[in-house]
Amino acid sequence: MMKYNLQQEFYKLYKKEADNAYFSPGRVNLIGEHIDYNGGLVMPCAITFGTYLLVSPNEDGIFRFSSLNFEDKYEVPLQQHYQKNGNGWFNFPIGVIEHFLKDGHELGGLDMLYFGDIPISSGLSSSASIEVVTAYALNDLFSAGYSKLDLVKLSKSVENNFIGVNSGIMDQFAVTFGEKNKALMLNCDTLDYQAVDSNLGEYVLAIINTNKPRQLAESKYNERVQECKEALTALQQELNINHLCDIDSASFEKHQHLITNPVVLKRAKHVIEENDRVKLAAKALAGNNLDKFGRLMYASHDSLRDLYEVSGAELDAVVEYSQTNPNVAGARMTGAGFGGCAIALVKGDTFDEYSKAVTEYYTSKIGYAPSVYSSSIGNGVGLLSVAVN
Ligand code: GLA
Repeated sequence: MMKYNLQQEFYKLYKKEADNAYFSPGRVNLIGEHIDYNGGLVMPCAITFGTYLLVSPNEDGIFRFSSLNFEDKYEVPLQQHYQKNGNGWFNFPIGVIEHFLKDGHELGGLDMLYFGDIPISSGLSSSASIEVVTAYALNDLFSAGYSKLDLVKLSKSVENNFIGVNSGIMDQFAVTFGEKNKALMLNCDTLDYQAVDSNLGEYVLAIINTNKPRQLAESKYNERVQECKEALTALQQELNINHLCDIDSASFEKHQHLITNPVVLKRAKHVIEENDRVKLAAKALAGNNLDKFGRLMYASHDSLRDLYEVSGAELDAVVEYSQTNPNVAGARMTGAGFGGCAIALVKGDTFDEYSKAVTEYYTSKIGYAPSVYSSSIGNGVGLLSVAVN
């Protein structure tokens, strides 16, 4: 049961009912971290937390943005172009509007109300969720004719060019194409994907929010993207490749001498080995070998901590505790890192015990409590029946 009756909240703001309601989920990534922008394989799932958007057209030619998560409201008249304005949340929908206009679509004024139940800055893709729900709604309301894949690419472009984060395509893809109880095996080079059964057997997926707001995440993220580019350029002296993930670990060993900067070398090693791990993880999942899958999760975390250097004391504490609990198959940070969330595969009947114990361990080490959720894997973006409550 949601905390709000969204239709009532919409009425309070705009003195009318919303015509349409949409929902886009957030995501977790089971494995394959920081490799989407290197043409790698990733394994995200949509989750049942996400962003709701209620909307009605208006005759005033004005876009009005409100959110139940943020105090700041925003409104702008329909104009030809928009630019990013500070760091407010409404830049995400404005960026999407700007993209529709740039593509030549005729839009009209809208009254909009957003509500997200994804914890903000938790690395569960609240930004992709808000971009995609807006793009999906505008496409529907103004019959813009974009395919779902177009909406994914458009939303990624908003993130890269309007917001200024050089992210890959994984998040927008996962929140658009996610399917209930399936993980997406996505090839980020070709964009081919398969929705595979996320049959976790006796395990459930726990999400542990470190409650450490992600700091410096954007600049550090762009720095990693740049380091990967440097590694690729160095390898291209001898190899005919377009992405770091075009080679496997064995071939990397033969050519790694080309990378002279030791930091860049570590980044490339993570990327290429992580891509190999995803292939092994896919086999383990298909064979219901959750122990193996869990070991690969731990290995992924180690590599993100030591080679890619995007973890931190908080995420490490969650994984450290998980490793001592025999009812946990594996755990790792998920998403960009620098705070945010970890995930763990926990035996279902011990979830409450795990939740309590990881909270105690984390709190004694870090000084404040994490939030622990048992997550369900849900569907991608879509239209909702209007009575949202
Ligand atoms: C963020 C980005 C994604 C991806 C992950 C790390 O979530 O938006 O494109 O790079 O970090 O795997």
